[in-house]
Amino acid sequence: MSDQIVYLNGEFMPMASARISPMDRGFLFADGVYEVIPVYQQTLFEWQAHYQRLENSLAAVGIINPFDNQAWLSILNKLIASHPWQDQFIYLQISRGVQIPRDHLPQKDLTPTVFAYTNPLKPLAASILENGIKVITLEDIRWQRCDIKAIALLPNVMAKLQAQAAGVDDVILINQQGNVTEGSASNMLMVKEGVIITPPLSQHILPGITRQVIEKLAQQHHISFIEREINQAELETADELWLASSTKEALPICQLNGQPVGDGKPGQVWQKLRAHYQDYKQQITNNEYLKQ
Ligand SMILES: Cc1ncc(COP(=O)(O)O)c(C=O)c1O
Repeated sequence: MSDQIVYLNGEFMPMASARISPMDRGFLFADGVYEVIPVYQQTLFEWQAHYQRLENSLAAVGIINPFDNQAWLSILNKLIASHPWQDQFIYLQISRGVQIPRDHLPQKDLTPTVFAYTNPLKPLAASILENGIKVITLEDIRWQRCDIKAIALLPNVMAKLQAQAAGVDDVILINQQGNVTEGSASNMLMVKEGVIITPPLSQHILPGITRQVIEKLAQQHHISFIEREINQAELETADELWLASSTKEALPICQLNGQPVGDGKPGQVWQKLRAHYQDYKQQITNNEYLKQ
């Protein structure tokens, strides 16, 4: 896919032609932020929420948003339309820009480096829908501002490697107080006696858009949804555990540290929520079409 079209610093070009400087602060310091946005039927999903989170991440690290909402929309819609896939996910990244010589202190007048590309978004594999995924718990060794969608993801990469070494799909991160924070690239939700429970928003987790959609759908369909801390020990008595992210939606976890979760199959609340999520995607994309 090296000939697919990407956006870099004001131009659309084949991926193979895209070049950035080795002095880019994104490369040298991981000094930048990113977003991942799903696209269904060539229509951006929950754009306003993703845009707001991008603005929050940029403001938190002191990078000026290079574009307004409309300019972003026109870039991303052009990128989407340049590819044949109905369902896609866009990765966009803004770094603080190129600075010579290397210095921790950023220069004030840097031009941010802006990159965006898109990928086909594949539906969840049938094996996951039937059997869920396996996870282990792991110490959360990340920083104190996980609410910023920062490109510095080394602890998340290390967590994924540990999951792979343990022969499982992902991890649930546990903080020093023994409470759940989130997954390596997802939020965590637990179901107990029909209630969806998830850790409250704080500087220790990313405010996931999928989590937000799940909350909205739970409220609409009269499924109890509460935010509170979840102790590691509670995970073992959960009826259901899920990981939630834009590209995976809600994923059922069916094995935790080698033990089955609930009856070892994706649970009933997940089944219901998944059906509501599919309907919601359909409605939203239909409405967006009407607006155009
Ligand atoms: C650490 C982390 N938490 C949560 C999420 C879920 O966020 P969203 O639902 O907006 O994709 C992600 C997504 O990549 C993530 O990396």
